[in-house]
Amino acid sequence: LILLDGKKLSDIIQQDIKLEVDKLSRQNASVGLSVILVGDDVASKSYVKMKAKACERCGIKSTIHYLSKDISQNELLAIIDSLNKNDDIHGILVQLPLPKSINENIILNAVRYDKDVDGFSPFNTGSLLIGDDCFAPATPAGIIRLLEHYDIALESKNITIIGASNIVGKPLVSLFINANATVSVCNIHTKDVSEFTKNADIVCVGVGVANLLKADMIKDNAIIIDIGINKINGKIVGDVDFDNVSKKSSYITPVPGGVGPMTIAMLLENTIKAHKALTKGKN
Ligand SMILES: NC(=O)c1ccc[n+]([C@@H]2O[C@H](COP(=O)([O-])OP(=O)(O)OC[C@H]3O[C@@H](n4cnc5c(N)ncnc54)[C@H](O)[C@@H]3O)[C@@H](O)[C@H]2O)c1
Repeated sequence: LILLDGKKLSDIIQQDIKLEVDKLSRQNASVGLSVILVGDDVASKSYVKMKAKACERCGIKSTIHYLSKDISQNELLAIIDSLNKNDDIHGILVQLPLPKSINENIILNAVRYDKDVDGFSPFNTGSLLIGDDCFAPATPAGIIRLLEHYDIALESKNITIIGASNIVGKPLVSLFINANATVSVCNIHTKDVSEFTKNADIVCVGVGVANLLKADMIKDNAIIIDIGINKINGKIVGDVDFDNVSKKSSYITPVPGGVGPMTIAMLLENTIKAHKALTKGKN
């Protein structure tokens, strides 16, 4: 069994990013990321803080806009518009979920596509699907990077994804299909999830239910990617029954320390990529 160590790889990537940002700063250039948080969801707050801390470690200037849950859609659009026009800001991230009073798609569509470092806008979503160069959402991109790092080929693999959200499952489908894998996607309405997982070389689970993936649902030596984050008795666990599934699998991501840290690294990388594209020819 090999643990897919996302923490270690994320640290390496972040060190490289720091070197790049240091180099830019010697040329008097700086990289800026704006994070918008609407409302006071506890989990969202902690994610936003983690992202800001990672930016600080790498020298990226991040600003968090803490906005009231009562903000109107038009007020939020006006803030996004000003960030779109601000040359010091290279990445804009709207932390999801947004309050029900605000139309998420309208907001995500308002972020300039070349500052959409989360890759959640319809433009980037479509570009990802057709395999164009674009911002891939951080969690799916982190998974691909982790698999690449461990030399796990995707071509011809049977891959089953459990969870079909716009931010995890669907962009993962795009990335895996473009890597010539054969992909099945399960959701809450799937009649028998194990029918799909049992045949899979790689199983990715991103649902938010602890112990969802059990050992009898996978084949021997399967590769397991656990995206879930659940707090059980004050402890963070994933969606996989780790103790039993790890005995049967060949590679597995731990939670914490697997997919989570990779997500942060990919967000920072996307921000550097945005900076590069936006300042091309200027430095
Ligand atoms: N590690 C990270 O960086 C990271 C990033 C994003 C999300 N997450 C975690 O991943 C999980 C999913 O997040 P999300 O935003 O995609 O969630 P979501 O609620 O938007 O989507 C969940 C998906 O799982 C499916 N589902 C629910 N119950 C199911 C079941 N019993 N069987 C099969 N499918 C089922 C739903 O149909 C849906 O497609 C959460 O635990 C979240 O915290 C982790």
